[in-house]
Amino acid sequence: MFSLAGKLALVTGAGSGIGAAIAETFGAAGAVVIVADVNEVGGRRTVATIEGARGEAEFVLLDVTSEAACNELADQVHEARGPLDVLVNNAGIGHVGTLLTTTGVDFDRVWSVNVRGLFNVTRAFLPAMVERGRGSVINLASSAGVEGLKDRFAYSTSKHAVVGMTRCLALDHAKSGVRVNCLCPGRVETPFVKSRLAEYPDPEVAYREMCSTQANGRMGRPDEIAAFALYLAADESSFVTGAALSIDGGMTAGSGRF
Ligand SMILES: NC(=O)c1ccc[n+]([C@@H]2O[C@H](COP(=O)([O-])OP(=O)(O)OC[C@H]3O[C@@H](n4cnc5c(N)ncnc54)[C@H](O)[C@@H]3O)[C@@H](O)[C@H]2O)c1
Repeated sequence: MFSLAGKLALVTGAGSGIGAAIAETFGAAGAVVIVADVNEVGGRRTVATIEGARGEAEFVLLDVTSEAACNELADQVHEARGPLDVLVNNAGIGHVGTLLTTTGVDFDRVWSVNVRGLFNVTRAFLPAMVERGRGSVINLASSAGVEGLKDRFAYSTSKHAVVGMTRCLALDHAKSGVRVNCLCPGRVETPFVKSRLAEYPDPEVAYREMCSTQANGRMGRPDEIAAFALYLAADESSFVTGAALSIDGGMTAGSGRF
């Protein structure tokens, strides 16, 4: 297992699903983890899990859409603990709809969390990482960020932006020692996917259809995504930057059709 001993990590959206699994994995690997979420109950649950496994963690209430709140948090963290070693931009929300069934309000809501939120948090924490000359930024994109996803206009376009932001950040800061990568999960069984399923007339049928789009016929687990995040956070991935890494059970490997 990779070690994160002595590293300081912040994970946004760490109160649920993939973010919680990443925070818990980082805590178990020895990092001090700042668990940031708008969901206080979930965030505190993640902290308790990390502490229960003898790790060190702190909960902070953070809405990534607020630039002021992100800047304020960065000032507090830098003052108390210094620059981050690892920043995970995981907070994200979804939306089902084509352009025709997506309102401007829906579109802005999705982009304000998935895109502007990533900008706000990274803009607040990256300067100190660059100044110190090391660090790893890990963004949660999606398989929907490398291929168009039907009926997910706002979400899929926002995740394409996350892939683009990852690549531009990686290039701009490659010589500073800060690496920037993104993870592109296929469908992972979390509350996020469960709430999307609930939007379908028959969630059971939709669940089976979603599983069938995975080459291996099943959804992923949050810990399977966290394992890859651990590698990107660790020094062993020192030559990896600007990558959009698929962890999707073969979803984007090809159509699978003869
Ligand atoms: N589950 C999947 O199938 C899947 C697939 C590909 C990518 N992803 C991406 O992975 C990330 C995590 O997804 P998940 O499935 O664990 O979702 P989830 O809904 O289980 O957890 C998301 C967390 O983000 C938090 N959050 C939402 N808005 C926020 C805000 N404004 N500020 C701070 N926190 C906020 C929520 O409170 C929640 O705790 C998302 O970016 C998602 O797009 C998920």
